[in-house]
Amino acid sequence: MQNIDSYVEKNKDRFINELIELLKIPSVSADSAYKKDVLKTADIIKKSLEKAGCDHVEICETDGYPIVYGEKIIDKNLPTVLVYGHYDVQPADPIGLWTSPPFEPVIKKTELHPEGAIYARGACDDKGQMYMHVKAMEFMTETNQLPCNVKFMIEGEEEVGSVNLSKFVKNNQEKLKNDVILISDTGMISKDTPSITTGLRGLSYVEVEVTGPNRDLHSGLYGGAVANPINVLTKMIASLHDENNHITIPGFYDKVENLSDEERAQMAKAPFSLDNYKKAIDIDDVYGEKGYTTNERNSIRPTLDVNGIWGGYTGEGAKTVIASKAYAKISMRLVPHQDWEDITKLFKNHFESIAPKGVKVLVKPHHGGQGYVTPIDSIGYQAASKAYEDTFGKTPIPQRSGGSIPIVALFEQELKSKTILMGFGLDSDAIHSPNEHFGVWNYLKGISTIPLFYKYFTELSK
Ligand code: BES
Ligand code: MN
Ligand code: MN
Repeated sequence: MQNIDSYVEKNKDRFINELIELLKIPSVSADSAYKKDVLKTADIIKKSLEKAGCDHVEICETDGYPIVYGEKIIDKNLPTVLVYGHYDVQPADPIGLWTSPPFEPVIKKTELHPEGAIYARGACDDKGQMYMHVKAMEFMTETNQLPCNVKFMIEGEEEVGSVNLSKFVKNNQEKLKNDVILISDTGMISKDTPSITTGLRGLSYVEVEVTGPNRDLHSGLYGGAVANPINVLTKMIASLHDENNHITIPGFYDKVENLSDEERAQMAKAPFSLDNYKKAIDIDDVYGEKGYTTNERNSIRPTLDVNGIWGGYTGEGAKTVIASKAYAKISMRLVPHQDWEDITKLFKNHFESIAPKGVKVLVKPHHGGQGYVTPIDSIGYQAASKAYEDTFGKTPIPQRSGGSIPIVALFEQELKSKTILMGFGLDSDAIHSPNEHFGVWNYLKGISTIPLFYKYFTELSK
């Protein structure tokens, strides 16, 4: 493609400033206090798609936050790329741990990012990565190099489970018809080792509640004689893993696909330094399921983690009390073929069955989603691979990720098309954490790589 590098070079300050403006709006979907801001963000995305050359852009209302849809159809006989992204962001807390306010973006230079990184909630997940596609579209239309049809579908509820997008996809099959889906909402190995995400984990998220006595009790008068819900809950949770860190829920592993030794050997070739991994998060050793490497544990193996646990007295000083109730939020990351609804049922049955007498246990399922894998011999993967070869000078490594984007499996089920995950983030970008950031280099590299995907995908489709 002509002039992509010079176009990016010439416009990079504007690209960065536009993203900074977008990041200033706190589009937190989980917290209704930000409703106006989430809606305002949808409007800004709409305008940006119009400016980038879409012929038709609309705000599609849902029972929740709207979906921004845009398209440019140049020729019905050419392939169609559907771009998906999300404009909502995670809550910013714990706010005190940010070194600069989460919705006042600033560029800071770091050792890893000598060109600077933009610090703000959503910088990488997913406003920055989504906006790369808007700017890539701008480049292709401005320079008359758009080689195929494009559809954009940018939602505002990814961080809360994409419930309304699921309905939208089921009800709009014709409108969303495409030949490939393109998403930047994942990461890559490092700045000099490009990779393409070939798998995502599924998710089952539940909340549990253990109730003991009908009121909080004096821990001296009653202690030792009644079940303490917090003691019981922690014991039940501890029993969910055995001494090898296998999950003990009966049937949990039944559908888990065992990779061949060859596939595992292939995976092990990806560059990875255990020392750096430990250093980056300040731990003296890794921990996990026996018989698997760190990279396997966080991609091809399912997990069970407590995400939050509470109950009893947590205020200042001491209060001698046996709480009436204890709670926990638990997530299970699943691998392809494990059905999230089946796993949720297995969890519920098992957790209820291990409750001792003297307490009542309630399991409340939240949201979930299926995992995803994509082969590397598809036209879409090959087009992405060639695009990275051009801009990084290296063939990207296929790699499964531990994260989840549940809607991707639904796309495959409903729209019958495969998704290509071209992520430009890094593990160190601190998504969902305080001080989330996105490297300026990564942002601009994404903008210059994406148009090449369109070019190669169109050529390979002929
Ligand atoms: N973009 C992330 C998922 C992700 C990040 C996948 C990095 C691979 C690499 C997405 O916004 C996200 O946070 N997903 C949630 C699940 C969702 C149902 C809330 C997750 O993975 O926890
Ligand atoms: Mn995301
Ligand atoms: Mn996220």
